Parts: sequence; C-alpha cells; structure tokens
Amino acid sequence: MSASKRIAVVPGDGIGKEVIAEAVKVVRATGAAVEFTEFDWSADRYLKDGTTVPANGFTMLASDFDAILVGALGDPRVPSNLHAKEILLGMRFKMDLYANVRPVRLLDAALCPLKNVRPEDVDFVVIRENTEGMYMDMGGVFKQGTPDEVATQEDINTRKGVERVIRFAFELARRQGRRKVLMCDKSNVMTYVGGLWQRAFKEVAREYAGIEAQSMYVDALCMHMVRDPRQFDVIVTNNMFGDILTDLAAALQGGLGMAASGNIHPGRTSMFEPVHGSAPPFAGKNVANPIGAILSAAMMLEYLGLEREASRIHAAVLESARQKKTTQDVGGTLGTREAGEWIANLVSS
Ligand code: NAD
Ligand code: IPM
Ligand code: MN
Repeated sequence: MSASKRIAVVPGDGIGKEVIAEAVKVVRATGAAVEFTEFDWSADRYLKDGTTVPANGFTMLASDFDAILVGALGDPRVPSNLHAKEILLGMRFKMDLYANVRPVRLLDAALCPLKNVRPEDVDFVVIRENTEGMYMDMGGVFKQGTPDEVATQEDINTRKGVERVIRFAFELARRQGRRKVLMCDKSNVMTYVGGLWQRAFKEVAREYAGIEAQSMYVDALCMHMVRDPRQFDVIVTNNMFGDILTDLAAALQGGLGMAASGNIHPGRTSMFEPVHGSAPPFAGKNVANPIGAILSAAMMLEYLGLEREASRIHAAVLESARQKKTTQDVGGTLGTREAGEWIANLVSS
C-alpha cells in the first residue's frame, strides 16, 4: 500500500475555521489514507505575535506536504489585509500555483436563481490565471494627498504565464472529455495584454485540433453566463476577470457557500480552498455552508489520486443538496456542524 498523503491544513479566519473542520471530518469519514497537520496562520496569530507566514513556511509546505487545505483569510481587525495577502496570495505566488481551477456545477435545480435551468445545464470549469495580472500589485501613488494625486496599478502578463495557463485549460478539457475552451479577455480596450492573450490562445489552440476554441469579451461573458450558462465548457481567463466571474458563477450554483477551487501547479504541492471568504458577520454562529470547503477537499483527494474517496464525497454532497440536508443559505435548516455531520455519515455508511 502507498504511504499516507500528508495534508497541511490552514483553517484561517472567520467561517474558514468552521467549514474546514467539516471538510476534515468528511475526508476522515472516507477512510482515505491521509494525515492532517494544522497550522494557525491567521489574523489571530498575526495580531498575537506579528507572524503571517513563519520563516521558510512555503518551502516547508512544498517539501513536507502533498497538498494544502485552506479555509479563508480576512479579518476586520486587520484592515490592511496584510496577513491574507502574505498567506493566501503568498501560497499562490511563491509556490507558483499558476492555475486556479474553479468548477461550476449545479447540484439541484432548486439551488439556481435562474428560471428553467436544470443541473445538466450548468457544468463548466473556470481556469483563472493565478500568479500575475493585476494581482502582482505593481504600481504606485504620486503626489498623494494633493489635488494632483496619481495612482497606477499595472496589469502584468508574461508570455510564459499566459501560455502555460491556456495550455492547462486545453489539457483539462482533453482529460475531462470537454469539447470547448473559451478565452475571456477585454482585448478591444486592453489592447497590449489582450493582444498577448489572443496570440497565445490561437497558437496553443492549434495543438488541440479536436477542441473548439473561442474567445469572448468579459462584459459579454457576464451577460451570457446569466442568460444561457449551457453554452460553457472550459473558460480560461486572467487573474482579475477570473476572480469576478467565479463569484457570479458561484451564484449559479446556489451561492458562494457551494463553490470549490484548487490552486494547482501540476506535479507540485497544490492548495485547495472554498471560493468564499471569511464572512465575518457569520463567523462563530454555526451557519456557514460547509459544502464549498467539502467539495474543495474532494478536489484535493482527486488531485492526490484518491478518486474513489473523492467520488464518495461528491455523491454524498449531491444527496444532501437533493434532500435539503443543508444550511439555510441553500434552503435547508441545518447548522454548519450538522450539515457536515450529515454528509460525513453518508460517506461512511
Ligand atoms: P465572503 O465570501 O466572505 O462573503 C460574502 C457573502 O457571501 C457573505 O456575507 C454570505 O452572504 C455569503 N457567503 C460566503 N460564504 C458563505 C458560506 N460558506 N455559507 C453561506 N454564505 C456564505 O466575502 P466578503 O464579505 O467580500 O469578504 C470577507 C473577508 O474574506 C474579506 O476580508 C475578504 O478579503 C476575505 N476573502 C477571503 C477569501 C479567501 O480566503 N479565499 C475569499 C474571498 C474573500
Ligand atoms: C478569491 C478571493 C481572493 C482573490 C482575495 C481574498 C485576495 O477573492 O480567492 O477569490 O481575490 O483572489
Ligand atoms: Mn474572489
């Protein structure tokens, strides 16, 4: 038998702590050969001793662990959001987790705010570039505090970064038997970076003759996603557009509480987290939906080659959605712990 997979767990802040406890419970219920090690990187730790990521933290994660499971980072007591930036964006950037994979799947028609949409109508994946773009926070302020103040924020796009995420999208399409890859940009206005994305997309698409390649402006894509989500299969886009589109896409699935993600560099220690944040007003109230975190943990198991355990989690989550054994945001009456427990019980039965 192969050795246990080692998983680093960073519950983080707010509801992150509550939903991760349920995700860990559900993974344990599968009996998967995994060992969890918890890290307290969070606002609490930062406020206590000033540490965001301990020295060599990312090197340690990469060498000692097979995957990382994260809750959420963000706390009103840290208005600068410095700890979140260093921990969450730190993992994405410093561990070079260049593809943020965000599946969009409707589990039950009752969860979708759109009329006459069936589960089979909403089944696509957004691949968000995860290491560059506007998120590099390059720019500056000039003449601050004067009427002549100037602020700039650079959108950094490298040929290497763009090409590898586009190739990742085509490879995922091929692996999952999907037929279309759509590249989303705003090349009618952002002509320089848009031009780079367009050229790279056309070149990479030529290597994948069996997969249809199309591009769409981000504004039009928002409209189409709401009017007719059936047309989408794989969407690849930059860091900022991917962030915004996946909150919209989360709403199609029943809300932010349902949406899962993986921050991936193939072959390396990768990180899995729900799409939602720490939702401070809900923290500590046992009301947060744990499904996004549970499905992120299932994505992690799949990444680690534990497909059987992952599909058992998927089946149990689907059943909980159908039977409304869920939290209130998606129509149920259960608390976070009870919803997690229900799924864990089904997984272990
Ligand atoms: P948020 O995702 O925390 O919450 C927005 C709203 O979505 C909530 O008020 C709630 O109505 C709903 N929601 C989110 N998660 C839910 C869940 N599990 N169950 C039920 N409803 C849920 O976004 P926000 O309020 O903009 O951000 C709060 C903090 O979290 C900020 O500090 C932000 O920077 C941070 N954040 C972190 C991450 C992350 O760690 N990956 C992601 C997004 C936001
Ligand atoms: C997400 C979040 C993060 C992002 C924030 C918290 C930095 O919104 O994971 O979608 O913008 O990437
Ligand atoms: Mn976001």
